[in-house]
Amino acid sequence: MDVETIRARLSALPISEIQYLPETYSTNDDAMAWAQAGAPEGVVVIADKQLKGRGRLGRMWVTQPGTSLAFSMIFRPTLEEIEKLSLFSPLGALAVAVALEDLGLSPEIKWPNDVLLSRKKVCGVLAETVWMGSHINGVVLGIGINVATGSVPDSNVLLFPATCVESELGKPVDRLLLLESVLRHLIEWRKQIRTERFIEEWKKRLAFLGEKVTVQKPDGEITGWFQDVDEHGALVLSVEEQYHTILAGDVKLRPLEE
Ligand code: ATP
Ligand code: BTN
Repeated sequence: MDVETIRARLSALPISEIQYLPETYSTNDDAMAWAQAGAPEGVVVIADKQLKGRGRLGRMWVTQPGTSLAFSMIFRPTLEEIEKLSLFSPLGALAVAVALEDLGLSPEIKWPNDVLLSRKKVCGVLAETVWMGSHINGVVLGIGINVATGSVPDSNVLLFPATCVESELGKPVDRLLLLESVLRHLIEWRKQIRTERFIEEWKKRLAFLGEKVTVQKPDGEITGWFQDVDEHGALVLSVEEQYHTILAGDVKLRPLEE
């Protein structure tokens, strides 16, 4: 990858600026700093390798050079979109899922923000809020995708099984073509983020919906039927005929192991 090729391949998209880093700590850190310094909507930071790629609560995300996609995009949400800020992470997952469908794959979304192929994790999404004093003035959406086989970390560092796009597709994948496709879907679906259709499209791809699941929260586990999601993307779990609404926060979803 090099910046000129990337710019040429993404030239048809309404992206205000592209920064390419062969190596960085985390594209989310870079984009957060850039957003705090006033960068406009649509800036994208792309890296070939991350030394400190992050998931939620500082858990690590592994990005190996030459085999993965790791990038972060800056959004400047409107006041109406700020009311639905929790939908930015589903936006990332939906854009990746649709891009994988374009390749002929059948992805599922693991609530709220991972993308699975054959029920193994192929992509993680990390949405972070940019604050200006006590006001929200941006969202950084970071996306990591395992493209080729070398991108999949050793199973001993994983909390959930992982795979990559090429293993599932059985043929090589052009990383920049996939990047272009994900960004295109991100930009398109963002226009619909407040619509019912957005929730419906996200919801119809959710893994484990209607199944019995365990939700791991910092204050303990809760097991029930994954009944639905609400208009903010929160998970609706039914436990002994009582409904519990669970916000994404620091929550992990697992199918029930019996
Ligand atoms: P989980 O993936 O355990 O359901 P999560 O979606 O909340 O949880 P985070 O807690 O944000 O994920 O952290 C990222 C997790 O992704 C790490 O704990 C690690 O298990 C896993 N991981 C790290 N790098 C990769 C990768 N390249 N491919 C797949 N999984 C990875
Ligand atoms: C998850 O697994 O739940 C989230 C992982 C998010 C990884 C991406 S890679 C690009 C961006 N930079 C980071 O440090 N994290 C995100």
